[in-house]
Amino acid sequence: MPKLKDIPRVDRPRERFLEKGSDALSKSELLAILIGSGVKGKNVKQLSKQIVRKFGNKFLDITVDDLLKISGIGKAKALQIVSALALVKRFYEELEPKDNIVLSAQDAVSLTSEIRNKKKEYLVCLYLNARNTLLKKEIISIGILDKSIIHPREIFGPAVELRAAGVVLLHNHPSGDVEPSKQDMEVVNKIIEAGKIMGVNVIDFIIVSKTDIYSIFADSQTARKKLTYISDGMQNSLFDLLEIGQPIYSPTIKKIHKIYFSPNKRVTPGRFQLQNRRFLGNKYKLLGFIEDIVNEKCDDFNVFCDIFAGTGVVGERFNEKDIKVIANDFLTSNYIPLKAFLGTVTVDFEEIEKKIDALNNLEAHKDNYFSKHFGDTYFTLENARRIGAIREKIDKITNNENEKAILITSLLCATDKVANTVGHYDAYRKKLDTVKPLRLLVPDFEPENNVNNEIYKEDANQLIRKISCDVLYIDPPYNSRQYSDAYHLLENLATWKKPLVHGKAKKMNRSHIKSNYCLQSASKAFADLISNANCKHILLSYNNTGESKDGRSNARINDKQIIDILKSRGEVDIFERDYKAFTTGKSDTAGHIERVFYCKVTK
Ligand SMILES: C[S@@+](CC[C@H](N)C(=O)[O-])C[C@H]1O[C@@H](n2cnc3c(N)ncnc32)[C@H](O)[C@@H]1O
Repeated sequence: MPKLKDIPRVDRPRERFLEKGSDALSKSELLAILIGSGVKGKNVKQLSKQIVRKFGNKFLDITVDDLLKISGIGKAKALQIVSALALVKRFYEELEPKDNIVLSAQDAVSLTSEIRNKKKEYLVCLYLNARNTLLKKEIISIGILDKSIIHPREIFGPAVELRAAGVVLLHNHPSGDVEPSKQDMEVVNKIIEAGKIMGVNVIDFIIVSKTDIYSIFADSQTARKKLTYISDGMQNSLFDLLEIGQPIYSPTIKKIHKIYFSPNKRVTPGRFQLQNRRFLGNKYKLLGFIEDIVNEKCDDFNVFCDIFAGTGVVGERFNEKDIKVIANDFLTSNYIPLKAFLGTVTVDFEEIEKKIDALNNLEAHKDNYFSKHFGDTYFTLENARRIGAIREKIDKITNNENEKAILITSLLCATDKVANTVGHYDAYRKKLDTVKPLRLLVPDFEPENNVNNEIYKEDANQLIRKISCDVLYIDPPYNSRQYSDAYHLLENLATWKKPLVHGKAKKMNRSHIKSNYCLQSASKAFADLISNANCKHILLSYNNTGESKDGRSNARINDKQIIDILKSRGEVDIFERDYKAFTTGKSDTAGHIERVFYCKVTK
């Protein structure tokens, strides 16, 4: 085997490169320069030739492991080659995306990356053929987007000339916030309408900032989890997609894209918080969403009414010294915690701590009403005995209603934490696997913020006739599942009348606490509530729970009814946010959208 030094200088790769440039060298010669030296029995040119021949046109995808299989190539040489390839690939990728085929918002953005840093607003149009290959890129406007300035001709003129099958529009927000503004949506709607008439597909409208991307297409598809455009003439236009997501009767739908959840500011460790309760339909994770709508729509307000309060987390979010929170729920098991957390004005914390300590140390070896019915099923026998004994004791050791509410609340929270359930009491889990011992804690509340508050336990339709407020927040049950069925056990514990219980789930008679909002006649109850509301702003949470197999999760009031009823009091806006809703597992949970209907009361 001749060694490289035996080859005449002019035939040596390095020398040839320096003399004649890279084009004069074959692939294996270029590789030889990279590898540098041969191995025993093989000079560098032969080694390189062997590699090029072995991998052929798969050369660019060679891995370190592939190279290590070639005798004479060690780790250092393999790494050298693979790194060089990666480096070149990286630069090429940055220069030009593959074939300029636009199959996603990301592809479109990489073709227009220059506008991301612009200080002025740009509207750029990508013209695509039926296979989504880029035909042309055109700047349509520079300056603030305005539907009265943008003329569809500027977009669709070139589209017709180029015989483009579709367009993708990109717009930059120098502010950094990629959420579409009202103007953006007006422009988009105008362009989409025009595209439909012209027969040119408006595939996407994308907003970019230095760091963020928002795509209407991706947004409309999130529920379907299909984020790539479809080429070959099958692509749905935004017109169709938005029509699916935006029913014709709707007024303005505002999509919320920010991360709205922020936990409560004040949390004292080692105490029970309102949000600790496992409660179906509780809005804890949607508080930021609701708060943002209130901030946007309800200027100065002094009275906030949470008329279907449940856990009370929504009212608590607005609970400040100067604000009166009216919280109401017709279940005693909700009313008592509402009173404790939001209604307690004076309390001797030391006294409460002492009593809770004593209750935690209460011995309970004998059976009682609670353990007889709920022991060894919903709770371990030991916990059930203690719950029953503690509840009995609370009635004996409390001096006033405030104190009693606080201690019962502590017991309700503690009970829920050791329940052998999935979060409600329609059934218990077959296997008794929740064996933690019961432990009461002091509820975490701020009496100084509660001074103006009013707490009620009334039917919302009765209460609405007696109160007035600035903001009325309405969060009724959406479907046929009665809260009194789901929380019969806590209701039983809160009221402590020791009623007869029936069936496997051990439910007491609940006929007096059935909600009209779970019945066929829900829309009538809602219409009555709205017509009697004495307030400036109405916010309604109502979920599109979709169709479930057993029908129990289907919404009782349809969108048209909601909007018609609210419109009788003023203009309506809808705010939407994707949210994972509760179902029993029998329904499809994908694509649930949590909505807030807002009405500015003018009539
Ligand atoms: C969807 S939950 C409210 C959840 C609450 N926003 C939260 O974040 O915890 C509905 C509540 O309305 C109560 N409710 C149902 N019908 C009622 C009525 N007619 N009057 C008063 N409260 C009612 C239920 O007891 C339940 O607590």
